[in-house]
Amino acid sequence: MDRTRVRRALAATEALGLVLIRGWARTRRESKGLVFLEINDGSCLGNLQVLVAEDSAAWGGLGEVSTGAALEVVGRHQASPAKGQAWELHAEGLRVLGVADPESYPLQKKRHGDEFLRTIAHLRPRTNKYGAMFRIRARAALAVHEFFGQRGFCWVHTPIITGSDCEGAGEMFRVTTLPPGEVDLAADFFGRQAGLTVSGQLEAEPFALALGDVYTFGPTFRAENSNTPRHAAEFWMIEPEMAFADLADDMALAEDFTKDLTRRVLADCGEDLALFERFVQPGLLAGLAAMVEGPFERVSYGQAIDILAKAGRQWEYAPQWGADLQTEHERFLCEEYFRRPVIVFDYPKQIKPFYMRQNDDGRTVAAMDLLVPRVGELIGGSQREERLGVLEARMGELGLSAEDYWWYLDTRRFGSAPHAGFGMGFERFLLMITGAGNIRDVIAYPRTPRHLGF
Ligand code: 4AD
Ligand code: MG
Repeated sequence: MDRTRVRRALAATEALGLVLIRGWARTRRESKGLVFLEINDGSCLGNLQVLVAEDSAAWGGLGEVSTGAALEVVGRHQASPAKGQAWELHAEGLRVLGVADPESYPLQKKRHGDEFLRTIAHLRPRTNKYGAMFRIRARAALAVHEFFGQRGFCWVHTPIITGSDCEGAGEMFRVTTLPPGEVDLAADFFGRQAGLTVSGQLEAEPFALALGDVYTFGPTFRAENSNTPRHAAEFWMIEPEMAFADLADDMALAEDFTKDLTRRVLADCGEDLALFERFVQPGLLAGLAAMVEGPFERVSYGQAIDILAKAGRQWEYAPQWGADLQTEHERFLCEEYFRRPVIVFDYPKQIKPFYMRQNDDGRTVAAMDLLVPRVGELIGGSQREERLGVLEARMGELGLSAEDYWWYLDTRRFGSAPHAGFGMGFERFLLMITGAGNIRDVIAYPRTPRHLGF
């Protein structure tokens, strides 16, 4: 479309006291000599009510207008006598840009369930709830860049195709250049092994050790076959990495970042969030407001195990030093015991990846997880092992080849420095801020073992 021409036409209609709007019909209601259309253009929750009178030039175009049709309407906007809207549009011209067959258009004027809407991920942003969701998502993404930009962090674009499995959990999707039948897992990527990144951290660390404070924000992938409401095979992660920083700095950044992001979304997405408060999670807004006011709790892993052991609960998995915290434990800590976000730090080294800095006790590493009510783990991070000898020894214990990680070890050979960082799952943040219960409903096209979308 020639934007200049469109702009000129718009300016001309405005000069005549007319406005032009384009959007999709949500409803059509007939009355004597009048048709009422509700039109939504995706910019906000509110629909615009359009009145088409029998004696107007717009009347002739009405034949093909049904829910879902794309329309262009020119008219005069006037104060509305109807309740719940400040003004309405009296149509003088109407053009159907795209029809939507009422027999087969899947979205009708009723509330559809999330399960059903997942099967039409390409149409669900046309509903109030998902329109609001994806506006909130966009605002939150912008807030990420505002927060780090204002603090002088440099955005680094780490690769999606990579040779290193950062978390060492064997959850990398393999990338292959070979035709089916010739797949060779050790040499798929032009003779070498490669996969889709599970985290940008390893590639971000060298940039922190050059530029000071950096962050990544991009898609990450996990080939884990977990069908939970909080795990996806493709999700977005935000990973800050700071040079000359320790675990305390890392925890402080995690808290500030979570609160700041929440504040920015609360400030700008009030109308969209109110929908989630009303239909998804009563008390959502008061809970978020309280969260940004109060301090987050900090508790060591050892203390957390003690609290859980003394809770007098029938656990499905008995809390035990050395074992990972289960969802039931994480939720108990932040939802019942502390009733606020909790940062658990100093985890046993055997349940954490090779790159975390070993503490002097010989059993724990300078790791931290931020747990939030309803969602569980929102952030995972650590101070990194900056001592070459200690890092090499740990990699040896875990059977990681120093040759494969030569470039990573170089950063410890040349000008190594204490540094720390974390990863926040962007979808987990959206679960927290919207009250949505399922990760499939906060990402445009969910990829999970059961959802490829189409
Ligand atoms: O705890 P994780 O695995 O940590 C890392 O990947 C580190 N390399 C991050 C770092 O220190 N730079 O993942 C970080 C966060 C989790 O806390 C969680 O919020 C999210 O990423 N996450 C997932 N979100 C959705 N689906 C999954 N399958 C996820 N796995 C992790
Ligand atoms: Mg984690």
